[in-house]
Amino acid sequence: MEYTEKVMDHFLNPRNVRKIDDANAIAEVGNATCGDIIKLYLKITAEGIIEDISFQTFGCGAAIATSSMTTEMVKGKHIDEALALTREQVADELGGLPANKMHCSNLAADALHKAIKEYKAKNGLK
Ligand code: FES
Repeated sequence: MEYTEKVMDHFLNPRNVRKIDDANAIAEVGNATCGDIIKLYLKITAEGIIEDISFQTFGCGAAIATSSMTTEMVKGKHIDEALALTREQVADELGGLPANKMHCSNLAADALHKAIKEYKAKNGLK
């Protein structure tokens, strides 16, 4: 399977690549096999809405595209909704990924879940 146009678009023009200086939730996740790393920054309101989200990555093209798509999919959403986002949904939204690249979509989804779980723990939320 080739990369879809959507994957290529998000790879060549990734959305939300930057650091958020006043982020209140940050998570870094790496893939031990390929060595790629993603860092995710979130700014979450007191009501639990993801007001802003961004990422930086040392990752392959698929990791860049899935990270970009992940930020777009959860921006403006409640953290509980974002927690329910799966890597399959991210890949589906991109029109699919080649089977040997599916693991690349774990990075963004895992970092998102980690950042929110840590944020909840820190703020005494269930
Ligand atoms: Fe490592 Fe894609 S090859 S995230």
